Amino acid sequence: MDRLDKNKLPRHIAIIMDGNGRWAEKRLLNRIRGHQEGANTVREIVKTCRELGIEVLTLYAFSVENWDRPPIEVNALMSLLRRYLLRELDEMFDNDIRLTAIGDIENLPKGVSTVLIDAMKKTKTCKGMILNLALSYGGRNDILRAVRRIINDYELKKIKSEDITTDVFSNYLSTAGIPDPDLLIRTSGEYRVSNFLLWQIAYTEIYITETLWPDFKKRDLIEAIIEFQTRERRFGLTGEQIGDRDKNRA
Ligand code: IPE
Ligand code: IPE
Ligand code: MG
Repeated sequence: MDRLDKNKLPRHIAIIMDGNGRWAEKRLLNRIRGHQEGANTVREIVKTCRELGIEVLTLYAFSVENWDRPPIEVNALMSLLRRYLLRELDEMFDNDIRLTAIGDIENLPKGVSTVLIDAMKKTKTCKGMILNLALSYGGRNDILRAVRRIINDYELKKIKSEDITTDVFSNYLSTAGIPDPDLLIRTSGEYRVSNFLLWQIAYTEIYITETLWPDFKKRDLIEAIIEFQTRERRFGLTGEQIGDRDKNRA
């Protein structure tokens, strides 16, 4: 904890929460048990981010591709999600956490979307942190939807071709208004992005740990942030340019 520099925290942390199934299988348990245990990790990580003063935490909870898992697992994940939202709502509100969601929310079962929309409404004015859940989310779908909306605005003559800059495009994505993630964490040792925030992670620092999501605790998150703080983010410049820039700022 002492090695953590509170003045150099990532503004936005995004996490691919992976390894619930393997956590359970290793213990000869049903995969669903792994998801239940994973929900406890979500609780701990949300709390830690709030305590640290992280502005945005985006959690990849369910991908568009995950719909093709066995129905029994999909149903279990959906009821877990519903239970999580119902259980955590008061605490979120008390801790000034605003809940937002990205993904095809309209495809979630009614029982989940109702609770989700209700929780988003109730926490709308909270300012302490944004907890952004990626649900039925796909990065390619996010980009496609943005393109469709731009075409629509173009046809309505609300936008001209030359107006479409990268910043403008970003504002058509589901993450409009949220800064791009500074740090992307993936648990369970997989070296892939799995259709998560494709556009938004152009310059995100990536941290992969072998730890399975249910075992990922507060100290693991702090370790990831400490490692992030050792990185030199060059954004295409030379190390020397970055050094000069930092000197001028100091
Ligand atoms: C992540 O754990 C949770 C979801 C994708 C919903 P997994 O269920 O993918 O766990 P593994 O990868 O099978 O271990
Ligand atoms: C990514 O995990 C999606 C979520 C964590 C919600 P997966 O387990 O679905 O990813 P793949 O299939 O290993 O790429
Ligand atoms: Mg997985």
